[in-house]
Amino acid sequence: MTLRDIIVGRTPEDLELFGEKGTGYIGNHYVGSKKEAHLANKIKIDFLRPHLIGIFGKRGTGKSYTLGIIAEELMELEENIRKNIGVLLIDTMGIYWSMKLPNKKDRKLLTEWGLEPKGYSINLIIPQGLEKKYTEMGVEYNQVFSITPKEISFEEWCYILNFDQNSEYALILNKVLDVLKEEVYSIDTMINKVEELFENEKEANIVKAKLEMIKQWDLFSEDSSSLRKLVIPGKINILDISQLGLELGGWGTRSLIVGILARKLLMYRIESRKIEEQEKIYEENIRDKYADYVPITWLLIDEAHQFLPALGENAATTPLLQIIKIGREPGVSLVLATQMPYKLHSEAISQADLVISHRLTAKKDIIALSEIMQTYQKYDLADYFDAMPREKGSALIMDDNSERIYEIKMRPRRSWHAGESAIAIEEY
Ligand SMILES: Nc1ncnc2c1ncn2[C@@H]1O[C@H](COP(=O)(O)OP(=O)(O)OP(=O)(O)O)[C@@H](O)[C@H]1O
Ligand SMILES: [Mg+2]
Repeated sequence: MTLRDIIVGRTPEDLELFGEKGTGYIGNHYVGSKKEAHLANKIKIDFLRPHLIGIFGKRGTGKSYTLGIIAEELMELEENIRKNIGVLLIDTMGIYWSMKLPNKKDRKLLTEWGLEPKGYSINLIIPQGLEKKYTEMGVEYNQVFSITPKEISFEEWCYILNFDQNSEYALILNKVLDVLKEEVYSIDTMINKVEELFENEKEANIVKAKLEMIKQWDLFSEDSSSLRKLVIPGKINILDISQLGLELGGWGTRSLIVGILARKLLMYRIESRKIEEQEKIYEENIRDKYADYVPITWLLIDEAHQFLPALGENAATTPLLQIIKIGREPGVSLVLATQMPYKLHSEAISQADLVISHRLTAKKDIIALSEIMQTYQKYDLADYFDAMPREKGSALIMDDNSERIYEIKMRPRRSWHAGESAIAIEEY
């Protein structure tokens, strides 16, 4: 007897309509508890509709690995679906470049799962200014990402310069941005404008000094990176921001980049949706004529609490919350991986329609998760975690679309996972 595949993230109506089309194989259903647990049906995930997916679990339980499985499966979709989907992975640890290599070391394990090692086509994007560093590390990159001062909003300036939005400094900044409205400008132009407009004011010196500091970042250039070039369908587009924290303003710069990207992504997707609508009406391809066209996009973010914290906010918070609120219609999906759900913005948790949670033990985290899927939890969530086999890759899936909870063993990765813990002995 062949077991029926379980499809998560798909409503019963869509299941009727599409069957298994547009799904990805992420693992197998675990039946029985702890030592008696064995693997049963395949579990597949819906990729046809936009989703907000949370991936949780304690340190080293497999979150980054699982995020990689989702990226792999998006690449395994049939060509006529894949060509319409963009995947952008925000890599905070610098571990995803190795997805271009097949996971040879787990060949035996993969065979047991009916899979084979496989490398994927990646587009590795690094921030401008770090080219030399990557070359020295021996990591080949494909594109360089830069920002132009004009695309930074007033709020974002306040975050990166650490100004209260109601302060004198912020007022100066606001005035400068107002005057510069229609031009393409550099940080130097901004500094000159501060001088020109606020010659004798002592606050102006602070604003100038802070802008001078920012000027040192190599991230800025005359023109900004085109989102269309960054999000190439059929490739895993990886924005590696891992090295930024070390050299520049830490998480502040990382958040700025993620914030700008998220904001642009949503804006362009709203326009692109109209273009796709017209294509349907006139039955011809017009997307290639539009420089700002962006495909339906899956934005995958590791260490997501850094950008969407439960407390406080940064340059990425509002743009990501916007995607959470209105990303469904224009087709922006979010996959957020984080160790501690209670440290993630409550909106990100309450709006998640699918959760893949590896082992959690802290009460606060379990409570944060319990609140979403209460209605169809048969037992206390802590009991589910307790019954979970203590193997890497075991997780609970909470599916709001089918209102079910499953225990799953995530499948091994086809591509190389570079996120192994450091071990002090080389042979292991
Ligand atoms: N499904 C799986 N099958 C086999 N091994 C796995 C699986 N998931 C994770 N692992 C193993 O566990 C290790 C840790 O996984 P991963 O790097 O994803 O942890 P993490 O939860 O992201 O940790 P951190 O919180 O430190 O970021 C991996 O290097 C891998 O060897
Ligand atoms: Mg990780």
